[in-house]
Amino acid sequence: MLSIVVLVSGSGSNLQAIIDSIAAGHLKARIAGVLSNRADAYGLVRAQQAGIATAVLAHTAYADRESFDAAMMEKIDAWQPDVVVLAGFMRILTPGFVQHFEGRLVNIHPSLLPRYKGLHTHRRALENGDSEHGCSVHFVSAELDGGPVIGQAVVPVLPGDDETILTERVHKSEHRLYPEVLILMADGRLVYRDGLPWLDGKKLDTPVRLDLSA
Ligand code: GAR
Repeated sequence: MLSIVVLVSGSGSNLQAIIDSIAAGHLKARIAGVLSNRADAYGLVRAQQAGIATAVLAHTAYADRESFDAAMMEKIDAWQPDVVVLAGFMRILTPGFVQHFEGRLVNIHPSLLPRYKGLHTHRRALENGDSEHGCSVHFVSAELDGGPVIGQAVVPVLPGDDETILTERVHKSEHRLYPEVLILMADGRLVYRDGLPWLDGKKLDTPVRLDLSA
């Protein structure tokens, strides 16, 4: 069974979607632990309510990124995960951390990558008049929001949308996409080889697409 560690900084609604997918029997995985850099992250409460082990490592308590990431690596390694899932974890990771978990580290980002790396993705999609927006799950590489994309969920941008409405629509799509991608991993269909995602034995040239526009 796939062993997962989830890293959160905030609300943890993506963590909740993963917990729910496991509980429903869709995702054959076990969450070994949830780690947060913030003691007040609501994701920790969600984990505790589901009986999952939690840990807090406050980044503010460390002199630099390297020592913080080294402490995280130690904590995560103790849980022996097959996959480390970043779910709203809002810290930039060091190359050493990324390398240590290469091929086992995935992230969800609220845009259709490579569009809109970084912050304020929904505002930028609106400002550019995009008709489509969405979210991406990708393997993490040393480049911020730059690793190979595994799957994307696409939602429409509708007339009258403001940032709040669009954020909410994309957030809901994240809750569908992340479990789907993890199911592919748990079922052994999606693997990481030679720096790229492979699905069913074939190099994944275009991301798995979850179309939620209907
Ligand atoms: C999600 O929208 C996720 O895509 C975003 O943070 C939110 C966390 O929500 N992550 C990033 O922007 C990472 N660059 P959640 O805590 O409710 O899952």
